Amino acid sequence: MEIIKTINEVRLIIAAWKKEGLSIGFVPTMGYLHEGHQSLIERAAAENDRVVASVFVNPLQFGPTEDFSSYPRDLKRDMEVCRNSGAHMIFHPEADEMYFPDFCTHVDMDSLTAGLCGKSRPGHFRGVCTVVCKLFNIVGADRAYFGEKDAQQLAVIRRMVRDLNMAVEIIGCPIIREKDGLAKSSRNTYLSPLEREAALILKKSLDSGRKLADEGERNARIIVDTITENFVTEPLARLDYVELVDAFSMEKVDAVDRPVLVAVAAYIGKTRLIDNFFFEPA
Ligand code: PAJ
Repeated sequence: MEIIKTINEVRLIIAAWKKEGLSIGFVPTMGYLHEGHQSLIERAAAENDRVVASVFVNPLQFGPTEDFSSYPRDLKRDMEVCRNSGAHMIFHPEADEMYFPDFCTHVDMDSLTAGLCGKSRPGHFRGVCTVVCKLFNIVGADRAYFGEKDAQQLAVIRRMVRDLNMAVEIIGCPIIREKDGLAKSSRNTYLSPLEREAALILKKSLDSGRKLADEGERNARIIVDTITENFVTEPLARLDYVELVDAFSMEKVDAVDRPVLVAVAAYIGKTRLIDNFFFEPA
């Protein structure tokens, strides 16, 4: 497995692979890899001849008061995870390899990003779409793998690829969790032991909503209120949002009469965490 830092080198290696007729799977990440990322790389390795993972903490998708500079980084460990999961190349550029000083072109989206994390993190999805578009142009993969943990991101990327005719197939992969149910996240490392306990409230409160939906509740308000009431019992957690939205348009719906996404975002201390479940009525 190789670590490549320049765009030109990535292009040369991938051109040679393509000449041999090899298929290419791509897993974009910001590093500090855990079993969630690992599951994406393993799936890519199972479905493609060559796998490229990128490790790049993208400054463009962080707000001015967010954790860009403190975002955890450990390239040595990331190399181990990538190697053990079947990756053939890590693309690990410096920020100035990706962004010229006078960089001024962005990929933006009119809908899908108005609610959920798009509302709480203005400019976030513009940064995500821009870097993912650039990475797609650099790697030229046949398939790219994204986690359902970041469900709005997955929907946004699918829409960008459809709307801009990008020649890559987007594969969504299930959420990988800790044994006690907490969704794996690079940001979980910020949590103190007490906060780590408190963080379980995301999954627990979502479960209370899922139970209602499973039992036949179709009123979105009742499901959202139940999750919220359950959530506020945890004093160390501060709710950012609970929303029930159309699984494709990400627009709020009143009734569970189509595939929906039920998503939560919350601060546990200073750490912002997200979780969700997908529900499709019979
Ligand atoms: P990052 O947070 O590193 O996540 C990289 C990929 O791993 C995303 O597709 C994310 O959904 C997936 N992932 C993270 N935790 C997961 C879990 N517990 N189970 C399953 N998949 C999980 O998302 C980003 O980076 C960035 O926004 C990026 C797309 C790389 C653009 O900069």
